[in-house]
Amino acid sequence: MTYIVQPMVLEDVEEVGRVERECFAAPWPASAYRRELRENTVSRYIVLRHFPDDSRAVPSGTTPADVDSDPLSQMKRAVSHLLRPFGVRDADSRDLPPILGFAGMWLMFDEAHITTIGVSPRVRGKGLGELLLVHLFDEAGKIGAHRLTLEVRVSNDVAQRLYRKYTFREEGVRKRYYSDNGEDALIMWTERIDRPEFVGMLAESRRRLDQRLMREAPP
Ligand SMILES: CC(C)(COP(=O)(O)OP(=O)(O)OC[C@H]1O[C@@H](n2cnc3c(N)ncnc32)[C@H](O)[C@@H]1OP(=O)(O)O)[C@@H](O)C(=O)NCCC(=O)NCCS
Repeated sequence: MTYIVQPMVLEDVEEVGRVERECFAAPWPASAYRRELRENTVSRYIVLRHFPDDSRAVPSGTTPADVDSDPLSQMKRAVSHLLRPFGVRDADSRDLPPILGFAGMWLMFDEAHITTIGVSPRVRGKGLGELLLVHLFDEAGKIGAHRLTLEVRVSNDVAQRLYRKYTFREEGVRKRYYSDNGEDALIMWTERIDRPEFVGMLAESRRRLDQRLMREAPP
């Protein structure tokens, strides 16, 4: 079995919306995702799927550890990014397993701003939120970002724990940031992600995560 993180494309938006409504009290409308994918040149959005061993769509021999590193996967990812504005994917979407999670960010000079991350409630606690976050770090690192930032509800302990595990720390508060209930947001920032200490920590975390994902039963 293999978890694969792919660039989000327009044909994913409806399904992402279904997962998002399971995740957030105030989900984004589908039009917001379409705008992000079509018009926002600094955005990167990803989706996570689980491919069983006998799936026809998964690249053969792909494992969580080598999704990004083998040349074929890198080429496919690059092609997917290139084709993204036209809503085209390199595999037939009818073959694709359901979306289990999604995430996104804006890449701005030396900063990356995480805009969203969510995992379907039925597969939480299995390391998938962490897998999505690690992929955002990878993408941010590739464009030379120094730090990542995000806003999180003050009451969202689970997400804050995930972020703290990857060096995010509170650096401010946005008062009444969330319009649905007037809740404050914590503004969190990582350490410098280009420092050797962070790069080493990320590699080690990724190794442990890959082992966990291989070990634990799929949904
Ligand atoms: C936040 C979210 C993405 C985490 O996804 P997940 O797949 O359940 O998380 P993981 O299994 O990858 O866990 C990663 C870390 O998060 C923390 N965490 C996850 N579930 C937790 C729980 N029930 N209680 C406390 N901490 C928890 C832990 O630090 C965990 O690391 P560990 O496994 O070493 O203990 C998921 O809970 C979610 O979609 N929540 C709703 C949407 C949301 O709040 N998004 C964040 C917006 S800022």
